[in-house]
Amino acid sequence: MSSTRNKLIQILSEQETYTSGQTLSDQLNISRSAVWKHINQLKKDGYHIEGITNKGYKIISFPNKISENTISWGLETDWIGKKIIHKQSIPSTQKLAHELAINGATHGTIVIADEQTEGRGRINKPFHSKAEQGIWMSLILRPNLLPYLAPQLTLLTATVLADVMDKSTDLEPQIKWPNDILIDGKKISGILTEMQAEQDQILYVIIGIGINVNQEVTDFPDSLQSHVTSLKMETGEHWQLVSFIQTLLQTFEKKFNQFMQDGFDLVKTNWENYGFKINEQLEIKTGRETWQGLFLGIAEDGALLIERDSGKIEKVYSGEISWF
Ligand code: BTN
Repeated sequence: MSSTRNKLIQILSEQETYTSGQTLSDQLNISRSAVWKHINQLKKDGYHIEGITNKGYKIISFPNKISENTISWGLETDWIGKKIIHKQSIPSTQKLAHELAINGATHGTIVIADEQTEGRGRINKPFHSKAEQGIWMSLILRPNLLPYLAPQLTLLTATVLADVMDKSTDLEPQIKWPNDILIDGKKISGILTEMQAEQDQILYVIIGIGINVNQEVTDFPDSLQSHVTSLKMETGEHWQLVSFIQTLLQTFEKKFNQFMQDGFDLVKTNWENYGFKINEQLEIKTGRETWQGLFLGIAEDGALLIERDSGKIEKVYSGEISWF
């Protein structure tokens, strides 16, 4: 979109009342007929703009397409999403976010795409991210946190996603350690946290969030169909991406601020409330040993706390856990 049109949207969205054609023409440094042409183009793009003779123009509603403007309009945050980079199709928002972060992108910058052609999950697994069917987004953060505590941000993000789904639907989300959100045992969302750090300082963290929103089951490859789900498949409704993203960002900012101020305790409790298989027996394969234990919760450094039959509590970081 041309920068004049972006400025026009910005001016109109900052005003609660009508802005005259003359004011727009002065502020944009273009003729009144050029203003009129841009307004018509925006209407074609799905912007609902009211024009009244002798009063001017006012935006009534934005199109439900993801864009920097539609996300910014009505976004009630102080620092997250103040800079939004939206692309229609890119290999991966995660990749672009790294490039931007290396070049100094600020804390709270969002990279979001309609479609990813090389979306990736943990352990470099491909992540299915078709056009306009879900939320594919990476957040750039520069938290004042010791690097070994960065996994807490994955756990925090999982609680944000679970809370938003819990509050906006009748569904019962669960968090499968460390980073999947499940509905009835099927994956609806995944989180990928990556960071660049020096010994005692995080330079930046990228939190990649993928949420299946408006897919039908046949939109997923055959091999995934029995393991995944979407908000639409679970609720029968088509979801508005833009307002969901705004709620997500607002909730993230609130919880992140609280976490930075008060620490991990509340995140831990919140996470454990949603924890998949918490208080159940899990089978763990570590090295050459396979053992069973009771899943008690999560530790400060993000590890799983498992109680052996002997009563000894062990921390498990990775290894093979049999979840199903
Ligand atoms: C996982 O399930 O293992 C994590 C999935 C993370 C997917 C998101 S979508 C936005 C961002 N860009 C990517 O390529 N991956 C993350």
